[in-house]
Amino acid sequence: MNNPLLRAKGIHKSYGTGAAEVKVLRGVALEAAAGEFLAVTGPSGCGKSTLLHILGALDLPDQGELEFRGEPVSSANRTWQASYRNLQVGFVFQFYHLLPELSVLENVLIPRMVLHSYWGWRRNARQCRDEAVKLLERMGLQHRLRHRPRELSGGEQQRTAIARALINKPDLLLADEPTGNLDEVTGGTVLGLLGELNRAGQTIIMVTHDAKVAALAHRRVHLSEGVVREKGNPVAERDAARPLMTEVRS
Ligand SMILES: Nc1ncnc2c1ncn2[C@@H]1O[C@H](COP(=O)(O)OP(=O)(O)OP(=O)(O)O)[C@@H](O)[C@H]1O
Ligand SMILES: [Mg+2]
Repeated sequence: MNNPLLRAKGIHKSYGTGAAEVKVLRGVALEAAAGEFLAVTGPSGCGKSTLLHILGALDLPDQGELEFRGEPVSSANRTWQASYRNLQVGFVFQFYHLLPELSVLENVLIPRMVLHSYWGWRRNARQCRDEAVKLLERMGLQHRLRHRPRELSGGEQQRTAIARALINKPDLLLADEPTGNLDEVTGGTVLGLLGELNRAGQTIIMVTHDAKVAALAHRRVHLSEGVVREKGNPVAERDAARPLMTEVRS
């Protein structure tokens, strides 16, 4: 792949030491092009979340390097990694991870707030708020701005989490089992939204153990025994996936 957005090379990650050591990733190589919707599949415990956390610099590999637009991430300094995490990457998790004491709107604004100094935030708050409201409207949540997460359905919470992931206009959206906690119909709506975002240009890497969910991506790779293997024909499979997306959303 020429000039991929993201390139992971020789990623190793283990947990524990000595006899208790678990070697989870054993030389993962992975590339994602700008505009791509990539699914990483694999059974429970194979290391999908571990890999996604490394791709988003939430965690560091023991060995190997992650490059974003050709720039090293894993070996960069902490300031650069923090900026990568907050500006270039948006995260969506299986269990949403919304802050319960904040409203929907406030949850979405958090990643934007941390970009600013106190006075910078005071100057920009109104514009940021307008952007967050627009994003929540796009997620169909305009009537829930002041609600707390516990007052929302699972699908609404996940759509809030997607809005939060997008508020800083990241180049890359990382989703960890985004429908894993939702029923099939609600999960279909969330997947439909991810598909729409991708068609509007958003690069997405999603991990899932569910082949039906993975079928909606352009390209699928499989993680097992600590390495990633490619499978499938990207273009033909994407076209084949469209009717399913329409079906689950209708
Ligand atoms: N912090 C940790 N300390 C020790 N072991 C860990 C830690 N995090 C993950 N592991 C182990 O690493 C392996 C991979 O975990 P990971 O959560 O990445 O798997 P997964 O593919 O995302 O699984 P699932 O589909 O169930 O979410 C598992 O065996 C897990 O027990
Ligand atoms: Mg996981």
